[in-house]
Amino acid sequence: MKILVVGGGGREHALCWKLAGSPLATKIYCAPGNPGIAAVAECVEVSAADVAGLTDLAVSRDVDLTVVGPEVPLTLGLADLLAGRGRLVFGPGREAARLEGSKVFAKEFMRRHGIPTADFEVVESLAAARRAVARFGLPAVLKADGLAAGKGVLIPRDEAELEAALRELFVARRFGAAADRVVVEECLAGEEVSLIAVSDGRRLRRFATAKDYKRIGEGDTGPNTGGMGAHSPSAVLPEEAAAGLERQVLQPVVDGMAAAGHPFVGVLYGGLMLTAAGPRVLEYNVRFGDPECQPLMLRLAGDLLPVLLGAARGDFGAARLEFDEGAAACVVLASAGYPATPAKGDVITGLDDLPRTRESVLFHAGTSRRGDGSVVASGGRVLNACGRGADLGEALARAYALADAVDWPAKVLRRDIGRRILDPGTGV
Ligand code: AMP
Ligand code: GLY
Repeated sequence: MKILVVGGGGREHALCWKLAGSPLATKIYCAPGNPGIAAVAECVEVSAADVAGLTDLAVSRDVDLTVVGPEVPLTLGLADLLAGRGRLVFGPGREAARLEGSKVFAKEFMRRHGIPTADFEVVESLAAARRAVARFGLPAVLKADGLAAGKGVLIPRDEAELEAALRELFVARRFGAAADRVVVEECLAGEEVSLIAVSDGRRLRRFATAKDYKRIGEGDTGPNTGGMGAHSPSAVLPEEAAAGLERQVLQPVVDGMAAAGHPFVGVLYGGLMLTAAGPRVLEYNVRFGDPECQPLMLRLAGDLLPVLLGAARGDFGAARLEFDEGAAACVVLASAGYPATPAKGDVITGLDDLPRTRESVLFHAGTSRRGDGSVVASGGRVLNACGRGADLGEALARAYALADAVDWPAKVLRRDIGRRILDPGTGV
């Protein structure tokens, strides 16, 4: 089979790496890919947002299955375009992708289907937002309706922060049309966990639990990022509890989408808060989490391709997901200034002398190759140092050893990924 993976970050490197090991795969393309991905797939210069170009690529190369990494092409209808040309695709169509593409759609969907989530109101003006915040109190949670690259959630803690947030959303219009509508919701407290599963439109196959670390700074401080590290298992959610949550917050989505005539095919990712009053869904994503995908691919025993293929065909059949008993971890190496304005252009050293085992794997996230052959940092999140082991301690030790083996002047990382789990009472 010929496979096309769409995207060019660490998540897509992990997917290509895993799929390249499948006996069913004869050729893997990645668009646009990156220099790390080029070691396991043929990279083609088509942007992940160019849905017409990607569709032409899949048709002209006679691709059997397209696997979509990021959310943007899904919300732009890539899966519908591919299906219209008779191509199998792993990823939801435009309508089902609204679960991630529109916070208002997601909240109203949850309300309609009785899925537990924070109480909320949808507002379209500064004055209405102020009234809603008065009802829910501070800290308040304000969410731009549309996609905002993970930056569209504001949580002002006091009046001054609230005024600044309202100005950003409604006056400066930092999020543009994505904030034409804003969800105001109650602020929840508790442990955050992710639930990640694959759907064939009717059923789910759940991944092992994973936890990501969203804040830039150690001790969970500073601005939210796409994620500075992750590990699997999450160590905060037992597998039995995850199975219960799957029935409570993921299966109703699959059932509701099927009933609405938009079967959900692809990754369904629930971001949950475990509150004292029970679990609440914070958000749905319609694709793998990045970096959660990376440790999950390391822990996945056996072949991924039959599961993705079954989903794309609308029936898993006997295909299932199985995981190693041990653990895997990912430490994100970013460039100083991330998430706002990361430094770019530094040459990365140490890449040629890395261990190449199944236990230590370096994925590329934001790198590019210069004319002279050197690899430079070209994104906010640059590399993902991943490790696998018998337990979380071993996995993290391998990930950090790899993280220390590569360098560039602006390299930054969190040293506390998983620390609280290894040593309760410290870290986050
Ligand atoms: P979201 O994109 O909806 O997952 O929001 C991004 C982050 O904001 C989440 O990972 C949470 O840390 C935080 N968050 C979102 N909604 C709430 C809420 N209702 N209460 C508290 N924190 C929230
Ligand atoms: N790591 C969180 C996300 O991919 O949205």
